[in-house]
Amino acid sequence: MKQDGGERVNLDEQYVEGLYGRDGILERVKEGTAASGMPSIWIAEGYGRLLSMLVRMTGARRVLEIGALGGYSGVCLARGMEEGGRLVSLELHQSYADAAKKHMEEAGFGQAVEYRVGDARQSLERLKEEGATFQFFFIDADKEGYPFYLERAIELAEPGAVIVADNILLRGRTIDEARQGPAVQAVRSFNKSIANDPRLESTVLPGYDGLAIAIVRKK
Ligand code: DHB
Ligand code: MG
Repeated sequence: MKQDGGERVNLDEQYVEGLYGRDGILERVKEGTAASGMPSIWIAEGYGRLLSMLVRMTGARRVLEIGALGGYSGVCLARGMEEGGRLVSLELHQSYADAAKKHMEEAGFGQAVEYRVGDARQSLERLKEEGATFQFFFIDADKEGYPFYLERAIELAEPGAVIVADNILLRGRTIDEARQGPAVQAVRSFNKSIANDPRLESTVLPGYDGLAIAIVRKK
C-alpha cells in the first residue's frame, strides 16, 4: 500500500505526517480500497487535509471530483463542505464508484455525493448541457485527460472557483526528459497551462507527488 509519493521517501514528509494521529475513517477507506482489488492509491495524507481545508475556506457547496477511485479524496472533500453541500464524483469504473459510495456512506457522507459512472469526458459534456456549475474542482483521473479536464473545469467554474489537481509530478516522470509518453506529455502541458493561463491564478506544490492549485479569476 502506498500513498502518493510513497516510493520516493522524503523524511520531511514522514516527520510532518508523524505529527498527526491516526485518522480512523480514512484508514478504513484505505483498507477497503486495498481489499476491493482496485489500485491501492490515494492522495497524500497532507494533501487530503489540504483539500478539506480549501473546501472549507472557499465555502464551496457544489464540488466536482474527476476520478473517485476508493473515495479517499471524496471523504476529504466532503469533510470540508458545509451542511447541504453536494459532491458530484465522476468515475470510469462502476465497481470503483460502488466502493467509493460505500466508503462515503460509512464516513457519514452518503447523502452528500452523487456518482456518475463512465467516461469523464462524456459526463463533463453532460454536466455542461445541464447548465451545472461548481465552486470547487478536484482533478485526479487518467493523466492523459488532464488538459481536457482543466479546460472543462474552467468552463463549468463559477467566478472564483478553485481547481486542484493531483500527481502533477508523476513520481518523477514529469521532469525526466527520457519520458515522452502521452500521460507525461499531457501533464507537462497541463502544468504549463496552470502556470500561464491568464484565466487562472495558481501555484504548484512540489511536495509528495505534486499538487496544482488554481483560482478561476473573476472576469
Ligand atoms: C498514481 C497515483 C495517483 O494518485 C494517481 O491518481 C494515479 C497514479 C501512481 O502512483 O501511480
Ligand atoms: Mg492521484
